Amino acid sequence: MTTQILRATTENLSEISKKAGAVIKDGGLVAIPTETVYGLAANALDGEAVKKIFSAKGRPQDNPLIVHITQFSEIYPLVKEVPDSAKKLAEKYWPGPLTMILPKSDIIPNETSGGLNTVAVRCPSHPVARAIIKAAGVPTAAPSANISGRPSPTNFKYVYEDMNGKIDIIVDGGQCSVGVESTVITLCEKPAKLLRPGGITLNQLEDVLGEVTVDDAVLNMLSDGEKASSPGMKYKHYAPKADITIIKGNFSKFCEFLSDKTDCFALCFDGEEQYFENAVAYGKKDDGASQANRLFDALRELDECGAKTVYARDPGTDGVDLAVYNRLVRAAAFKIIEL
Ligand code: TXA
Ligand code: MG
Repeated sequence: MTTQILRATTENLSEISKKAGAVIKDGGLVAIPTETVYGLAANALDGEAVKKIFSAKGRPQDNPLIVHITQFSEIYPLVKEVPDSAKKLAEKYWPGPLTMILPKSDIIPNETSGGLNTVAVRCPSHPVARAIIKAAGVPTAAPSANISGRPSPTNFKYVYEDMNGKIDIIVDGGQCSVGVESTVITLCEKPAKLLRPGGITLNQLEDVLGEVTVDDAVLNMLSDGEKASSPGMKYKHYAPKADITIIKGNFSKFCEFLSDKTDCFALCFDGEEQYFENAVAYGKKDDGASQANRLFDALRELDECGAKTVYARDPGTDGVDLAVYNRLVRAAAFKIIEL
């Protein structure tokens, strides 16, 4: 298949949205920029279209997709009922990087919900994503636009690398701002439970809902046979080719640890690169937003450098750091050394 590349600008936005929207409505696949990461969009109500997403990504069929809408009122046909908690969260954080899980209505096909009786819904804030979904005129299923298991793409280059030749259109909308995927919360349990940390932090959720629990899989490896609340959590994720270990300890201990290692890369914070022979930086120290923005690109850059062994600085787990840590610890297959 020849993949058409469309570069979004303020001037051509309405024209390319019409084109991309029509392809989605007719059952095709379009990669679109969002504020979190690029998504691979298809008509969420069309099971056949959704199947194409799974084959383009090589994604396990039981891993459900997030349905994207452009305003809160569009959630009503997708779910059985809309609790007050959903209204309050949407009022505060939509449009934005927050996904809510609710019992699904019958119009959501099994392909989209991965066979579950719930559906994940998100209202993105990125103007290009919004214009395209609006033009499609249908709720749009969109997982991250990477080959399954690779880091999510946060710019056109990496979407092209993974999806060229497999989908109808890639829309280039530049660099994504958040850089990690949306926060996922299930409202099907009481209290609500955080399944995947992201740009909207645990504190921000608690501000609106009071108590919020955190799924075990956010910070810990699921043991064999343990059932994942979010199917995506059980798969190996965000894995670059390199073998990564997170090193917990301050910078001087980190330097000392690396001093007798050869042939390795440091995955460090901005400005620390100069202390190592091979290094890739993933954002500013003590700045979760900056680390989230850089992490997936840094993981792909390590592959491009041919890195085989990587030691990573510990991002911590406060605020947005929790999202960064959650992705990095999976990229590291939960290998951690405490100094
Ligand atoms: O920021 C994002 O959320 C991006 C952009 C493109 O919007 N999308 C994204 O989709 O990250 P994806 O498919 O890569 O991740 C969706 C996650 C998966 O871990 C999946 O298992 C979980 O959400 N999920 C989806 N529906 C669910 C459901 N009904 N119950 C539990 N987990 C669900
Ligand atoms: Mg993904």
